[in-house]
Parts: sequence; C-alpha cells; structure tokens
Amino acid sequence: MKHFLTVAGLLVFAFVASASGTISIYHAGPSSPSASTRQGWIDLNKNGRKDVYEDSSRPVARRVNDLLKRMTLGEKIGQLWQVNYDTTPDKTFAEKLKRGEISSFLDGSTLIETPVMRNKLQHIAVEQSRLGIPLILGHDVIHGFRTVFPIPLAQACAWEPDLFERTQTIAAREASAAGVDWTFAPMVDLARDPRWGRIAEGFGEDPWLGALDAAASVRGFQGTNAADPDRVVACLKHYVGYGAAEGGRDYNTTEISEFTLRNFYLPQFKAGVDVGAWTVMSAFNDLSGMPASANRHTLTEILRDEWHFPGYVISDWDAVNELIPHGLAANPAEAARLAITAGVDMEMVSTTYPDTLAQQVKTGKIPLSVVDEAVRRVLTVKFEKGLFDHPYVDETRCQTAYLRPDAIAQAREAAAKSSVLLKNENGALPVSKATKRIALIGPLAQDAEDLVGSWASRFHAGEVVSLADGIRAKLPAGAQLTVVRGCSIIEPGAEYLLRHSDDPGKITGHPTGSNEIAEAAALAKGADAVILALGEPRNWSGEDGSRSTLDFPGRQQELFDAVAATGKPVIVVLFNGRPLAVPELQKKAAAILEAWFPGGEGGNGVADVLFGDVDPSGRLTTTFPNNVGQVPFYYNHANTGRPGFGEYKGTYIDGPTVPLYPFGFGLAYTTFEFGKVQLEASKVKMDGMVSARAQIKNTGGRTGAAVAELYIRDLACSAGARPVRELKGFQKIRLQPGESRDVEFKLSAHDLGCYDAKGNWLVEPGKYQLWIAQDSVSGEPVEFEVNK
Ligand code: NOJ
Repeated sequence: MKHFLTVAGLLVFAFVASASGTISIYHAGPSSPSASTRQGWIDLNKNGRKDVYEDSSRPVARRVNDLLKRMTLGEKIGQLWQVNYDTTPDKTFAEKLKRGEISSFLDGSTLIETPVMRNKLQHIAVEQSRLGIPLILGHDVIHGFRTVFPIPLAQACAWEPDLFERTQTIAAREASAAGVDWTFAPMVDLARDPRWGRIAEGFGEDPWLGALDAAASVRGFQGTNAADPDRVVACLKHYVGYGAAEGGRDYNTTEISEFTLRNFYLPQFKAGVDVGAWTVMSAFNDLSGMPASANRHTLTEILRDEWHFPGYVISDWDAVNELIPHGLAANPAEAARLAITAGVDMEMVSTTYPDTLAQQVKTGKIPLSVVDEAVRRVLTVKFEKGLFDHPYVDETRCQTAYLRPDAIAQAREAAAKSSVLLKNENGALPVSKATKRIALIGPLAQDAEDLVGSWASRFHAGEVVSLADGIRAKLPAGAQLTVVRGCSIIEPGAEYLLRHSDDPGKITGHPTGSNEIAEAAALAKGADAVILALGEPRNWSGEDGSRSTLDFPGRQQELFDAVAATGKPVIVVLFNGRPLAVPELQKKAAAILEAWFPGGEGGNGVADVLFGDVDPSGRLTTTFPNNVGQVPFYYNHANTGRPGFGEYKGTYIDGPTVPLYPFGFGLAYTTFEFGKVQLEASKVKMDGMVSARAQIKNTGGRTGAAVAELYIRDLACSAGARPVRELKGFQKIRLQPGESRDVEFKLSAHDLGCYDAKGNWLVEPGKYQLWIAQDSVSGEPVEFEVNK
C-alpha cells in the first residue's frame, strides 16, 4: 500500500507493508546531494580516496575495468537485472539495492512524473551499497512524454527524418526532467503487414527511409552526448525480425531468409548503431527457428562481431523466461544460459539471471568471462550516461519542462506534416473558412483521448486537442459547427473485440442509438460542408493490438454509407494506427485525409491542413491494401518469374492485385507533372556516380510540396533477387503555381548494391533502372549500365 502526502512543499513517501508485511523503503524529505558530490566527485565506496572508477577525468574503459575488478559475483549479476517497479510483488527494493542486486528500474506509473522517487532509489543505490553503482531508469518514451507527437508511423509519412530528431529531442527533454535516463525507443522494426498492431510504432516498409528515421530518432534522444541532462539513452528495438510475425499476430513466429534479414530487417538497426545508440532490445519472436532473445547469430555474430556495437542488449519483457514456452529452454537456468551466451546482457523483469547465473558460474556451466563481458557493457553505458558523476536529477526542472510553447508548436507542425491526403475530388479540400454550417460527424470527432495512439506515455487527456476543438478554433464568429458522434466506435455485443486495456463501460455503456446514424445523415444533408472523423480506438494498434480484419470497427462503415448517400461531398478524416482496407471510401468520399493518431495537438494540426493553412505534404510509407487477403503487401517485393506470362500472371481471381494506395503516395492541394528522367551518362563505372534529373512542374492553382522519389532496380543480381523498386533518395520541394524546377540526384554506384547472405555489400556490373516518380508505382524508368 502506498501513501503519498504533500506536507509543506515536501514530498513524503512512505512505502509500507507489502503483502508480506515487509517495510521496504522509508525515506522522507526531498533528496539532496550528498556531501561528497559537493566536493566535485562522489566517494562511491566511501574509502576516502578518489579511485579510478570514481574519477571522471579517466577514460570510461579504465573506469569500467577498475570497477569490475572490485565487484563480487553477486554484484556483477545484479548489474544484469532490470526490475519493474509496479508489477514486482516483492517490494524489498531497499535491501536489494543496498546489496547491489538491481541494475535498473523500468518505469512503473509510480516512478515517473517527477524524479523524486527515482532520486530516492538512486540515493540508496549510490550511498548505501558497497560500491555505489548507480541505477539507470528506463521508460517507453515512444512518441513524446507529456507532449505527445504523432505515432512514429505518422511522423515517417512526413518524409522528413529531421522531424524525428526534433520531436525526440523534446521527448528526451521532458522525460529526462521526470528522471528517465533511458528510453525503449526507437522501434525500428520493418513491417509489411497492417494486421500487426505494432506497425504503428515503426517507420513503415522501407529499409532505406527507415534507416534515416532510425538514425534521426537516436540523434534526437541522445544528442551528441547522452550524458547531457536533457538527453536519454536510446534503445533500438526489437532485435530482430519482430515485424514479420506470421499472420500479423503479435509475438508470433517469423521465418526470414538471411538475404531478406540483411537487406530489409537489419539496416535500420545498423543505422542506429552507426550513430551511436547505446542499447538494443532483443525481441520476443522466434526467428527462423531460433528465438531472437537466444539468437547468437544476430546478437553476437552480427551485432558485436560485424557492427562492433559497444553498448548493452536488454531482453524484452520476460523474453528470457519465455525461451521456455518457446520450446527452446527446459528450465530457467537453461533460459538464462542460452540468453546470456547468445548476447543478452540484461534481463528485463523475469528473474532467471538473478536466480540462476551465480550457481551456473560457480559450477562452470557459464564462464565468468561471459558475465564479466555483459557487466562491462552495462557499466560502460552507465558511465557514458554520466550516472556515476551525476546520479541525481534536478527535481525542479520538471516544474517547467512539460508542454512548453516550442513543444506544442512542434507537435502541431508534426501532426500537419504527418497527414497524407489520399483523395481530393473537385477541390473538396481545403474547406473555406467562410463555410457557414459545418457538420462534423463520427466517433472520433469530439474524442481527444484516442488521438494520441498507443504508447502515449504521460499524456493528460485534458491536454489533447480534439478535431472538433481544432476546427472550432479556425472558424469565424457566426459559423456553425455541429458535432455528432453518429455511432459508437465499437458495438456492444462485440465484447470479444474489447482489448485488455479497455474500460468495457466506455463502449457498452454508450451503444449507437437506434436513430443515431439517420440523424447524422440528416445533419449532413443540411450542412454546407460535411466532415467525418472515423478510425480505430487507440488501443487497437500497438503491442498485442493485432487485427484479422482491416475495415472500420463497429458501425462506422454504415455511418459513412448513410452520410455519403445524402449526395453531399463527404470529407473523411482517418485516425488509425495502421493502413485500413477501405476501398468503399475511395469510391464514394469526396476527400480522404489520413491523419493517423496525430498526438496531443492533433486537432489543431489536422485542422490546419483541412482549412488550407498548411498544405498536405505527407506521403505513405506503407502500402494500403484493398482487402486483408492481399497482405503482407509491400512495394519493394521481388518479381515473380512470370509477371507477364500470358494469362498466367499470378493475379487474384476474385479481387484486385494492385494496392488501394501505394507506398510513396500522397496528394497535395495542387497537382504536379514529373518530366522525363535525364541521365548524365547511361554508362557508369563501379566507382563512379549516377546523376539523374527530372523537371517538376506545379500544374495546379496553389502552392504545394512535391516529393520527388528516386527508385532503382538492379535487373540481375547474383546474391538474390532484388526488389522491383528500391527507394534510394527523395527531395521535397515547394513550388508556386506554374513554377517548374529540376530536381537532381547524385548516387554513387556503390549505393546501388545490396547485402549478400553473409553481410557483404555487393555492387555488381550490369543493367539498372531508375525512376524519379511521385510514388512507387508511377513513372517511367530509364536504364543505365554499371561497368567494371
Ligand atoms: C514490451 C514491449 O514489447 C517493449 O516494446 C517495451 O519496451 C517493453 N515491454 C517495456 O515496456
């Protein structure tokens, strides 16, 4: 039981009586720096001397070596365990901390909001344990902390990797003020299957663009020095292949060839490692027969031996223990042995490391050197984060760190930039601000909470701007905005569709009224502009948020059909965490704006686009299928042997084979014409450059941003079949009506290559094609040759 009292400005925590009756922590008053910090260094082991590991002027490697020499086996193993504060029933943390048995805590709602509790735990670890090794506090800061930005899949659609750097810089600033040292982000899993709910957390289906986004995110979290107090350590997750879950079902088995792993699933991780991400999380999934959290090939041969990753690997939650249900390990000791020898340095939550490693080292089953190496990596990151020299977080910073004006402005800009215009017939958008009567209809019209999407960290529902509020703020006095729900987002009677995190009353308590849809249609009929806000509940994507269908939950399709049947041009705004298969919308809606889950400023950012204050400039980074039977569906697939073999083409008999919207697609409020691609030379040397240009003309009546997408294709490759198109560059340019401009790309022949199954980068002579196009299916290719 917890008591939380505020007495005369002092926070007093008393953690009393866990189930076993143990008094675990009793520590009152604000934390203050100890006497030794005031001397400029901390005498962590209280021997009155400045030992090498306590001396910040010494190189990290020397400090680590010095500390490692002083540690007992028990203290070493303690560094390899992360505890969840809230879900651990045994709350004897103070005793464990004093004995050096805990390396890290993972959020827990009690721990995060202010750093007070974190500092108290840190005081115990630093001042009351034998060697004074600091804790590192981790938390899922995925797309914002208190200020929530659009979900990562949405931000990726801005085709502006620097946006991630800016939003994650703010996320780091806010989270670090709350005492977070380390975020479990970015999630860099490539995803090709919209049934998989965690597609929302990544960058989409392209490894090249995803690598840029991964690197930018790491730069945003860590800055140039992770030790800066307003930065957090990044964690590339989930290593690796997690996004290829069979059937799109979370945690499911994956089967990925080495060629595909190298060219599609690994590049984003490599990019993150190359820019200095300090940690990696091993995934839940089985990878081609060997669970990712016991996979020595990926964790050691690739990550360590090939990429020289210097940081540490943490397992995903319970993933070490889960080697048992996976059918790999027979018991916890075996699970621990398999994981640590494969390269998992720290165990998250489950207890196979603390429970079994010591015995296994003592009996020679696990070499001490394996434990030492894992500890070395953990300590290295703790030193690099500056935790030994500055273990405590300034407790005043959180009073002013959240929701600062620049954060709000950035969230609004990100929401607008992430939106993708999928259809716009007869200039239905932008809506004129002079419109007299606007009908805003749909279960997500007034809803603020769903707009933040999954993993929204410390958002407060009252701080989220709904679409209704965003639109209201645009309208002049006298304009009339009528907002109705139209239907419930999911229906009672479909309780099996509720998620574990759902409040059943929220849905079943508010079923669609018998006349609600008809009334919404009647409202639409009398309006001058009709906007429908449709989509998914926010917890229908994210972890364990898989779906077997990709249409609208509840009666939203019926609502749309009824409103569209009025004959009014219907503008649809979609709020969702995955591509939806909604071909009826494409047929009947006048305009469709894919807004994803746009975050705390979502209503404002989306309204900026709807009313034309910001031009839509997003482009999809994931294919939208026409129906669920088409998935997995992605643009960068290999060709078949018979793409044009008479009637035998491998198309579907009973439905379209083409996507609803392809990768790279997105409209503007104007139109663009892309001219023929001109190559500077059609023959290039292996060490030469390919230079291509095309003229882009704004052929419409408004200023707008065109995205010129550069794709290539290697027509014959000895290492394996290359995709029919691969993105290798892009430029976003703004053009005035009637304006033409040339875009020019210079690509080294080296960049045309791919990885072979052994991880060697291979560039082969031969014929290639190149496009500069508006999306992944349009445009005409030009051909060139690479010669030795
Ligand atoms: C499990 C999730 O898979 C992972 O992404 C997350 O970081 C951890 N839980 C910690 O919350």
